Amino acid sequence: MILLDGKELAKKIRTEIKEKVAKLDPKPGLAVVLVGNNPASEVYVGGKVKACDEVGFVSKKILFDETVEQADLMRAIDDLNQDKEIHGFIVQLPLPDHINEDLIIDGILPHKDADGFSPVNLGNMLMHKNTILPATPKGIIRLLEEYEIGLEGKHAVVVGRSNIVGKPIALLLQQKNATVTMCHSKTKDLKKVTKEADILICAAGKAHMITKDMVKRGAVVVDVGMNKLEDGMLVGDVDFEHVSKIASHITPVPGGVGPMTIAMLIENTIECYELAKGFKH
Ligand code: GUN
Repeated sequence: MILLDGKELAKKIRTEIKEKVAKLDPKPGLAVVLVGNNPASEVYVGGKVKACDEVGFVSKKILFDETVEQADLMRAIDDLNQDKEIHGFIVQLPLPDHINEDLIIDGILPHKDADGFSPVNLGNMLMHKNTILPATPKGIIRLLEEYEIGLEGKHAVVVGRSNIVGKPIALLLQQKNATVTMCHSKTKDLKKVTKEADILICAAGKAHMITKDMVKRGAVVVDVGMNKLEDGMLVGDVDFEHVSKIASHITPVPGGVGPMTIAMLIENTIECYELAKGFKH
């Protein structure tokens, strides 16, 4: 079994970006908007800001109380759209129930959308145009490429259909000529489908739901899950201990997809920076 070491690859990517940023003036700027105190979101945002500082970006963290009103959040988005120091920004999801998430994402200017979540960027991705790609799916593809895992003609099964992972990773895999099956909570006989996967992407957000009996021997397993157990331990969607015994390649949690998401966010911010330069001409 080969471990798909996202931590190591992400470090390599950050080092390359750091060298590039050293030559840039002004420095690229990334802002992160965080609402409330969801523990997982706090961990993610902490990692994102730390990575910004490490590569020499200007970083801004904008915090709002859980009770923030839609209009105040929209105003913050407008300010970031106008902010000359900030080339890209993200709003950490999920947002509280009383906030209309779609309206917030729609408010982000597409060329500042470092997460690639805006309808314009997602639409461009659907049409296979060069665009800012969602960080997690982009990171998964980069990790598979690093380990020279061929996708053409392979059967890829994606478990989970979120806008930020399941749907976009299915599309990217299909664009790389994999044959893709998407599964979700209403899929009948999930095990029958996952067992056929050459490449299994697990993004359902349920601790240890993918067990050894659901995986084909020799499959490549990518675990996007980040679930907190009652004892505080962070685990993925895959029962790593047992599945790793039959998989050919597998991502650990933590240290697999998570660091790749952050590295791709940093890379996307450079793309936003270059887009901003283009607008000046
Ligand atoms: N919540 C979970 N993953 C992500 C992500 O990649 N970006 C944002 N903005 N929110 C998330």
